[in-house]
Amino acid sequence: MDNKELIERIKELKEEKNAVILAHTYQRPEIYEVADFIGDSYGLSKKATETDADIIVFCGVDFMAESAYILNPDKTVLIPTRLANCPMAAMVDVDGLREFKAKYPNAAVVSYVNTTADVKAESDICCTSANAVKVVNSLEEDEVIFVPDSNLAHYVMRHTDKNIIPWNGWCYVHRKFSPEGLSRAKAVRLNAKVLVHPECIPEVVDLADEVCSTTGMINYVRQSSDETFIIATEIGVIERLRLEFPDKTFFQAPPGGTCLQMKKINLGLVLEALEKEQFKIKVPEDIRVRAKKALDRMLDVD
Ligand code: 13P
Ligand code: SF4
Repeated sequence: MDNKELIERIKELKEEKNAVILAHTYQRPEIYEVADFIGDSYGLSKKATETDADIIVFCGVDFMAESAYILNPDKTVLIPTRLANCPMAAMVDVDGLREFKAKYPNAAVVSYVNTTADVKAESDICCTSANAVKVVNSLEEDEVIFVPDSNLAHYVMRHTDKNIIPWNGWCYVHRKFSPEGLSRAKAVRLNAKVLVHPECIPEVVDLADEVCSTTGMINYVRQSSDETFIIATEIGVIERLRLEFPDKTFFQAPPGGTCLQMKKINLGLVLEALEKEQFKIKVPEDIRVRAKKALDRMLDVD
């Protein structure tokens, strides 16, 4: 089947089975064609609480699909491949986090949604790149353990008086953007606005006109009268911006970056997921209930 046929068949099956497709912006552009909603981690978690579909097909990485299940245990939540795993989410485990908590008994634990369900279950509250500062500042505690992304933790430090204790995790895609490369790109394109994802290193964040989540970037461009942008995040955002704003010009910050795990999903796998109702996401109930508390608390902050 070619892409056109795959798209038609996926749309038919979605209707037949009362299924909805939620897709992260880092997905391949052809996935956008079958998606009912495209967004960032925050928007996707919110959407997952609002849908009345029986089946959610999640086109994103493992932790995102897991969050959709945690929030919707009565629905069938599918991920089209078991290989779409975020390496950053695997950088913190429960044993390590418990040791950290024992060292800082008065600290609240904020876990980025890029974590496994059992780590969320050990946390007081979750956050995404869109609301991390707001979540941290909503807490009563003055001390905060922040897992797993140390770059996002350092970004939060700039916007809070709280003592942030970062875990040493990172995203291999965002860590590669370099201040030297970005400075050179800015020097060549003097009128370009620079948008940076907070998973980038602090020296890259220093060069930003705006630091925002993936959806934050799209919203920024929508309201901006600027015409040229340099974007420090995964290539999917640049592809989506080029589709949505064909009259504006977008450059990815050097040296560029692609999330290989996000690209493991394709239209063929989405069709198979719907046909065979695979691969089902499940989380043990005791963990799910505790993880849901941390996610719900985050959703209540906004
Ligand atoms: P967003 O919260 O901007 O969607 O980012 C998620 C992510 O995994 C970034 O790498
Ligand atoms: Fe994980 Fe980085 Fe890929 Fe986001 S871009 S899913 S943080 S590896």
